[in-house]
Amino acid sequence: MFVVNRSAALPKADLYRDLNAQLAALFADERDGLANAANLAALLYEALPDVNWVGFYFLRGSELVLGPFQGKVACVRIALGRGVCGTAARDRKTIVVPDVQAFPGHIACDSASRSEVVVPLLHGEQLLGVLDLDSPREARFDQDDADGLATAVQLLLAHSDLSRLWSPAHRDA
Ligand code: SME
Repeated sequence: MFVVNRSAALPKADLYRDLNAQLAALFADERDGLANAANLAALLYEALPDVNWVGFYFLRGSELVLGPFQGKVACVRIALGRGVCGTAARDRKTIVVPDVQAFPGHIACDSASRSEVVVPLLHGEQLLGVLDLDSPREARFDQDDADGLATAVQLLLAHSDLSRLWSPAHRDA
């Protein structure tokens, strides 16, 4: 059994250092990208305070399609450029949204969500999808979260066989 260490009292940078060490241990003996993505979502959902949704959307043609997640049932398809996820994917940039109600076109999957961070999954130049986190607390996420989550995503991509998440055929799907 893997016991998640929830050191929520740590400064954020230390918390993410600890979480990313746990992720590296989780990924050490497993190359399946789908399994690793699912465990990444579960670990972050359990360990991070004040989050109500953690999960993935993967690029399929010109839209994002829901992947492994923890939280309430979510919308399945998001067009590139739509909502926070579609905007982060289109621009290939992390977006931190302190107040989702002030983000034009924000897509509400859980009415409790107040703030959000979306990190693109980039394999070289290729966009594979995004990692999305929601919080019921306004301004929950900052640059420390963006940096820590970017490292988590890099660990996932570096340690995983991505073929069950994404293949060149998905670009034209
Ligand atoms: N809020 C996102 C949609 C996904 S859910 O939050 C899980 C968006 O605006 O893209």
